[in-house]
Amino acid sequence: MRRADITIPLSVASYSELSEADRQLIDAARAATHRSYAPYSRFCVGAAIRLSNGEIVSGSNQENAAYPSGLCAERTAAFYAHSTYPDATFTAIAIAARDTTGAEIPAPIAPCGACRQSLLEYETLAGAPVKVMLAGADEIFILPSVRSLLPVAFSEIV
Ligand code: THU
Repeated sequence: MRRADITIPLSVASYSELSEADRQLIDAARAATHRSYAPYSRFCVGAAIRLSNGEIVSGSNQENAAYPSGLCAERTAAFYAHSTYPDATFTAIAIAARDTTGAEIPAPIAPCGACRQSLLEYETLAGAPVKVMLAGADEIFILPSVRSLLPVAFSEIV
């Protein structure tokens, strides 16, 4: 038996420390929270994806009375991005959330397992790391890739 410890590279930054491009992507994710349709959970999530063609595509969580039929913000943005610009690749994603009072969640929000799996496939298609920024009101977690959020992942494509 051999042991392999996996470490996750995570940087913690404040908004003011980020580059203008990163702040722009976080602004787009925060703006998308206001377009969330979340009457059941009242948890409003926004995601913004930067593409290799320079576009920023955003999405928000969309819920449904038949609960499993809704979709997270990350996959709403990712599916829209790749169906609108199939030839472009993802370079970065930012995620933000706010509660029913309209206040941004203090701690960074992390994507669910299904979103990690979906995003990983777009990272594989890109052939390069997709930077991940998880925005909270107080601090921002930055990971260098989707792979770092899902280290031991299922993959059919290489
Ligand atoms: N949600 C997202 O949009 N992204 C995540 O990463 C986690 C959860 C949504 C799903 C549901 O509409 C609400 O947040 C509460 O779980």
